[in-house]
Amino acid sequence: MDLRGKTSVVTGGASGIGRALALRFAREGANVVIADLDAAGMEAVAAEARGLGVKALALRTDVSELAQVEALAARAFEAFGAVHVLCNNAGVAAWGGLESATHRDWQWVLGVNLWGVIHGVEAFVPRMIARGEPAHIVNTASMAGLVASKGLGVYNTSKYAVVGLSETLAKDLKAYRIGVSVLCPMGVETRIRESERNRPAPLRNERAEGGGEPVELIGRYLAPDAVAGMVLAAIRGNELYVITHDEALEPLRRRAERLERAVRSRAR
Ligand SMILES: NC(=O)c1ccc[n+]([C@@H]2O[C@H](COP(=O)([O-])OP(=O)(O)OC[C@H]3O[C@@H](n4cnc5c(N)ncnc54)[C@H](O)[C@@H]3O)[C@@H](O)[C@H]2O)c1
Repeated sequence: MDLRGKTSVVTGGASGIGRALALRFAREGANVVIADLDAAGMEAVAAEARGLGVKALALRTDVSELAQVEALAARAFEAFGAVHVLCNNAGVAAWGGLESATHRDWQWVLGVNLWGVIHGVEAFVPRMIARGEPAHIVNTASMAGLVASKGLGVYNTSKYAVVGLSETLAKDLKAYRIGVSVLCPMGVETRIRESERNRPAPLRNERAEGGGEPVELIGRYLAPDAVAGMVLAAIRGNELYVITHDEALEPLRRRAERLERAVRSRAR
């Protein structure tokens, strides 16, 4: 897909991977719509994008609220006529064992990481289909959506769901010429460890229950722009999985082996 003159929408575009995606698309000549909770952050990214010669809109959006994502889609289509690339990327992380996860942890993390993606699908897909132009949807999951690490269970649950949703969406939308990629990074140098900054007051834990120290990820921490480059290549090549780290191979292989062993060693 040649992105020149096309329109991209990036949720969580004020920081980290989303920021890098928005600026990468802008460098390719695509107009960008940045949707985030962080008004100052997204305005700064929009200004940077404009400096690259494209049109950019920053629209404050809480992706956990369907009405806000519907409003985002309506504004994006109204402003640019079509949306060719949608990145459902906004996400948050909460750490700690599942035995101590609070109901608020579940509501917050699933609200953003899973419902945020579902809302993106609900609001944008019907409009993309009606428009009839080739398009691509990138959902940000994580390596935590393919292999479960200890101490990250609420997050893992949200990301496994995003992988399942994306794998199915790719099949369902093929006939409409809408491609789907699911981004599964390991460590990336972003502000994800400061996710609590985005937790709404009603979903904050009353005591210091739940939560825990951020899990130390294995492997290298990539620069967000390197990840954005891989996403762009996946959009162009219509590749479903964007697995950013070579270090992912070993845990993925071990998981596949465990599944195979379960079948082979099952009582018959
Ligand atoms: N950084 C990593 O190591 C890593 C690894 C795997 C997956 N991811 C995923 O990458 C995505 C981007 O995160 P990041 O690492 O760039 O972190 P980040 O904290 O730098 O950026 C996340 C952005 O999402 C926004 N956001 C949070 N809640 C929101 C909401 N309810 N509505 C709209 N925007 C909201 C934040 O304001 C922020 O701008 C997330 O889905 C995250 O789970 C990150």
